[in-house]
Amino acid sequence: MFQTRSLLKTVTSAFFIATLSHAALFPESLNISIQSENMMHTLKWRPLQEACCTVNYTVQYQGEFEYMQNDSWLIEHSCYEIVQTECDLTLALSSDSDYNIRVAARCDDSTLWTQLPNTFNRRDTVLLVPNMDVTPRGRQIEVNFSELQKHISINLHIWKKGDEHKAISKEITDKKSHHDAWLGGGTYCLKADAILDIINKTTSTDTHCVLIQEPLRLIPLYVGVAVALTLAVALILGLITPRFSLWLRKSMHNKEPLPNALIGWPKSVPIFSSKVLLEPTHSVLLLDPSEEQHRTSEMKATCDDERG
Ligand SMILES: *[C@@H]1O[C@H](CO)[C@@H](O)[C@H](O)[C@H]1NC(C)=O
Ligand SMILES: *[C@@H]1O[C@H](CO)[C@@H](O)[C@H](O)[C@H]1NC(C)=O
Ligand SMILES: *[C@@H]1O[C@H](CO)[C@@H](O)[C@H](O)[C@H]1NC(C)=O
Ligand SMILES: *[C@@H]1O[C@H](CO)[C@@H](O)[C@H](O)[C@H]1NC(C)=O
Ligand SMILES: *[C@@H]1O[C@H](CO)[C@@H](O)[C@H](O)[C@H]1NC(C)=O
Repeated sequence: MFQTRSLLKTVTSAFFIATLSHAALFPESLNISIQSENMMHTLKWRPLQEACCTVNYTVQYQGEFEYMQNDSWLIEHSCYEIVQTECDLTLALSSDSDYNIRVAARCDDSTLWTQLPNTFNRRDTVLLVPNMDVTPRGRQIEVNFSELQKHISINLHIWKKGDEHKAISKEITDKKSHHDAWLGGGTYCLKADAILDIINKTTSTDTHCVLIQEPLRLIPLYVGVAVALTLAVALILGLITPRFSLWLRKSMHNKEPLPNALIGWPKSVPIFSSKVLLEPTHSVLLLDPSEEQHRTSEMKATCDDERG
């Protein structure tokens, strides 16, 4: 019904223009068109070719509601008697409704009404493919979007080349974002979907692939150094341990009875040193100046014995 009415209106305005045209005024229409991308709607028209002292334009619209009520038109106040030949109708046409749109061109005392041939609905908007830049940054992938809009959500899919079925998806909230190459070096591919939930439209970027270099061998280097150090420590301990345990065993089992003179000594004094101390002490204790001659000859005999 609305479409029929719209057609009627178009015919009516065409008749109106024809009438004016017959009167040698306004020989042409304004050739109105609407461009709508990403839910932003801009009405454009061709400037009036007539020679007027003053010319200006006013934009009006009506949704289904206004039409049903009493066929009234609403004025877009930001486009009232303007001299420019375009008008931003983003806010005016934000409901899910079929709108009729018309422009009044005022030339001195005359007014030319031109209506958009078809109704416009926000569902007609064109969802643009997001402009995405992908750059490798070390172990990460930097992704730039030239523009993000609140009402359009962006889902980024990343996968290692050949594994698209294992792609991970992330919702993008910042123009610039960084993503880990979680499977090490290789070629990663990215694709973004722009989703306009309000009218259930989706569009996708091309697939961008980037080569991520094998990560620098910093971590393996640290691990290598740690392993080498551990081995060195183990080796040293391995060399020391038999000697150490031997020494420990000797100390534990060498439990000869101590001479009286040493009984009071601290237990911690190593036992082998007692032998060193014992012998000279023994000799000195037996030494008697009167027996020096005897002892000397005795020692001499011992020496002779050893020599013989
Ligand atoms: C009317 O506008 C459309 C789109 O803006 C354009 O392609 C077409 O050439 C225009 N027609 C005239 C007669 O100016
Ligand atoms: C149309 O209806 C609206 C609201 O009911 C009213 O404000 C407006 O004056 C009416 N317009 C005409 C042309 O009757
Ligand atoms: C628009 O044009 C009409 C007729 O030429 C004139 O009366 C009116 O003052 C103009 N409006 C503005 C804002 O210039
Ligand atoms: C990404 O954006 C930043 C600034 O936000 C810019 O410096 C950088 O060059 C951009 N990268 C690409 C590949 O466009
Ligand atoms: C959105 O569109 C898809 C296909 O384009 C369709 O399968 C789905 O049912 C739609 N959802 C709604 C809520 O309209």
